[in-house]
Amino acid sequence: EVLDAGGLVALPGFVDLHTHLREPGREDAETIDTGSAAAALGGYTAVFAMANTDPVADNAVVVEHVWRRGREVGLVDVHPVGAVTVGLAGEKLAELGAMARSSARVRVFSDDGQCVADPLIMRRALEYTKALDAVVAQHAEEPRLTVGAQAHEGETAARLGLTGWPAAAEEAVVARDCLLAEQVGARLHVCHVSTAGTADVLRWAKRRGVRVSAEVTPHHLLLTDERLTSYDPVNKVNPPLRTERDVTALRRALAEGVLDCVATDHAPHAPQDKDCEWAAARPGMLGLQTALSVVVEALVRPGLLDWRGVARVMSERPAEIAGLADQGRPLAAGEPANLALVDPDTRWTVRASELASIAGNTPYEGMELPAAVAATVLRGRVTAYQGGIRA
Ligand code: DOR
Ligand code: ZN
Ligand code: ZN
Repeated sequence: EVLDAGGLVALPGFVDLHTHLREPGREDAETIDTGSAAAALGGYTAVFAMANTDPVADNAVVVEHVWRRGREVGLVDVHPVGAVTVGLAGEKLAELGAMARSSARVRVFSDDGQCVADPLIMRRALEYTKALDAVVAQHAEEPRLTVGAQAHEGETAARLGLTGWPAAAEEAVVARDCLLAEQVGARLHVCHVSTAGTADVLRWAKRRGVRVSAEVTPHHLLLTDERLTSYDPVNKVNPPLRTERDVTALRRALAEGVLDCVATDHAPHAPQDKDCEWAAARPGMLGLQTALSVVVEALVRPGLLDWRGVARVMSERPAEIAGLADQGRPLAAGEPANLALVDPDTRWTVRASELASIAGNTPYEGMELPAAVAATVLRGRVTAYQGGIRA
C-alpha cells in the first residue's frame, strides 16, 4: 500500500507503558477492541495493559487471555502487565515467574491503582523481577498519607474543602524504592510522576547510578488543579492534577531526560462512575487519542522538545524500558515499519463522542489542540488513516 505522506512527520510508532483497557471485567467502560482502536488512532503500535482488571491479571490465565485477545483484534501490540501481588492486595507476591514464562511473556509488573506499599514485599518483587529480567512499575503513593484524599494538597483543595493529597505521599515512596532498587541491583520504573519534588528525587537517584526510569502523563504536563473550581469529576485523577510550578518542572525534567517517557494512564470509566458527585467519582482520564497533541501543545510549541525528542519520549525510551526489540528504533532495510505519521500543522477540537473509547471521560472536551495523527502503521500494515480504523 502506498500512503501519501507529503507534509507529514514520520515518527516510530508510539509505545504506551501505561494503559487501562478494562477487559476483563469492565467492558462497559472499554474493551481490548475499542481500546486498541483508540490506540491505533492515537499513533500507538504497542500498549501495556494494566493489571487492575476483574479478575486481576495476577496469573498466567488472565495475562494470556489479554494477550490473545489483543492479537485477535490486531490493531496494536497489546502487552499485558502482570500484577505484583495477588489481587493487588499487597500481601503475597503473584505468580511472576508463570506470567513471565507464559505465551504473553510478561516483562512489566505493576499493582497500579494501588501502591506496593510494604517495603519488604517491594524488595522481594525487585529481587524476582531482577532474576526475570523484568521491571516493577510502581504507582507511588504512600497510602497512609492519602487516606480520604480528593485533590492536590494546596490552595485549591483548601478553598474547595477537599482533603489534600500531599506531594510527599509520592516523593517518599519514590525515594524509598530507588534505595531498594539500588540495594537489590534491580530496575525500577516509576509510574505517572506528578510533582516537582519527585523529579528532584529522580535526578538524585540517576546521578547515584540507580537503575530507575520514569514516566509522566500528558495531563500532568498540561493541566493544573486550578481546573477543579467546578467540582467536575472529569478532572479527578490519581495522582491528582498539581500546580503550575509542578507542571513547569515536569516539562523541564522530561526535556532533560530526568523523566524518560510519556505514558497515558488512559483510564476509561463508565458514565455512572463519572457522572456523579466528586467524592464518589472514580479517578482517571482518557488519554490514548489526545496524547500526541497534548505533548505538542505542552512541549513542542514552547520549544522544549523537537520531533526527534517526541520520538524519544513517545517511542524509543518506552520500548527500551519494556525490552521491546521491534519497536521504537530505526528499521533495517526491508523490515516492515511501525510508524506514526503526524500532521504537524493542523488543529482539531476534541469531542468525546468522536473518540473510539466506550467511555467519554476526556478532560479536553471542546478544547482545540495542535497536530494530529494522520496514519499509523503496524508492521507494514495501515491500522489507522485520516481518523478512521483500517480493520
Ligand atoms: O487515575 C487513575 N486511574 N489512577 C490509577 O492509579 C488507576 C486508574 C484507574 O484504574 O482508573
Ligand atoms: Zn496509578
Ligand atoms: Zn494507571
